[in-house]
Amino acid sequence: MQESLFEQDSSTSKSTAQPVKYRDLHELFEQSKSCTKCRLASTRINFVFGEGNPEAHIVVIGEAPGSEEDAQGRPFVGRSGKLLDKILEAIGFSREDVFICNIIKCRPPENRNPLTDEIECCMPWLKLQLQLIKPKILLLLGRVAANTVLDNKQSMGNLRGRIIQWSGYDVVVTYHPAALLRNPNWKRHCWEDVKLLRSHYDKVC
Ligand code: URA
Repeated sequence: MQESLFEQDSSTSKSTAQPVKYRDLHELFEQSKSCTKCRLASTRINFVFGEGNPEAHIVVIGEAPGSEEDAQGRPFVGRSGKLLDKILEAIGFSREDVFICNIIKCRPPENRNPLTDEIECCMPWLKLQLQLIKPKILLLLGRVAANTVLDNKQSMGNLRGRIIQWSGYDVVVTYHPAALLRNPNWKRHCWEDVKLLRSHYDKVC
């Protein structure tokens, strides 16, 4: 993990490197919720910080809030979220057992893909969240989350189906629930991935 990103004063400017320490997720939320570092601040309804167990062993990371998430200020509460709930339930977890968040905290207009500069502006918030939660395992949903966190351009086929050691975390990559809604044939791969997640969790947590 790049320590320099943790040390930026993320509430002001990307370029001002100052040590910033947050005591807990609540304090980080209070600091981040009015973020104006990128253009998405002007079109969002809510900054979607994320939610769940602040001491979770697993952090689930998606791409960006959609319209329902923007309206409610909560991650994965629309159609994809309902499927994510079922996926978690199938391996014996509830939303309260994990922490759920996104790479990007504000909805991109028309649900377009996040732009590179938007991701760069937002990543420090995610890194601070991980620093406070200290999970053992990351579940990355979809290629945007996987390629951003792992800082690579590998395909889903290369990334899924295994445990990836990255920066002190054990990472499982699988399809984004929205992709599963479009391509139900991929559900069996996702099932393999989350069974792997569960067995790894039972081993290491
Ligand atoms: N898709 C995401 O990636 N995140 C959400 O919170 C909702 C849909």
